[in-house]
Amino acid sequence: MPVFRFTVNGEPRQVDTAAARPLLEVLREDLNLTGTKYGCGEGQCRACTVLLDGAPALACITPVRAVEGRRITTIEGLARDGALHPVQRAFVEEGAMQCGYCTPGMVLRTAALLERAPSPARAQILDALNGSLCRCCGYPRIVAAVEFAARLQRSMTAKEEVHAAE
Ligand code: FES
Repeated sequence: MPVFRFTVNGEPRQVDTAAARPLLEVLREDLNLTGTKYGCGEGQCRACTVLLDGAPALACITPVRAVEGRRITTIEGLARDGALHPVQRAFVEEGAMQCGYCTPGMVLRTAALLERAPSPARAQILDALNGSLCRCCGYPRIVAAVEFAARLQRSMTAKEEVHAAE
């Protein structure tokens, strides 16, 4: 079988597998990264969202051949030095989850949104999360968590800038 090489959460990885195999299966079964969830398996729920070169992608319908040489971030790769990513903190502090199944995908989509729009308008948040299904219908808290995450991230960035200038 062919060998595919890519990075996952900053680590170079390689897998020897069928080219059409879904990335989701490779992450969960071969690399033991089970934070990425299987919801529908057909591109309809966004539970399987990962970041591919920083942009959200659906791992269930992405064949492993499509990630050759690319950079994948899963939910396991967001925390730094044992500290939660601000988006993760915001979701925890807002209680923006019930069963938690959609949470990895929601968090990664939010992280990608805040990279490109640090102060997103409500419409941008709704657009970024549109199609990400929460089976517990926790949407109001999820949107509140995204708004909180944006504030948190901006204040952390401001503190880092002050610290760097000292
Ligand atoms: Fe991939 Fe539902 S599991 S979109």
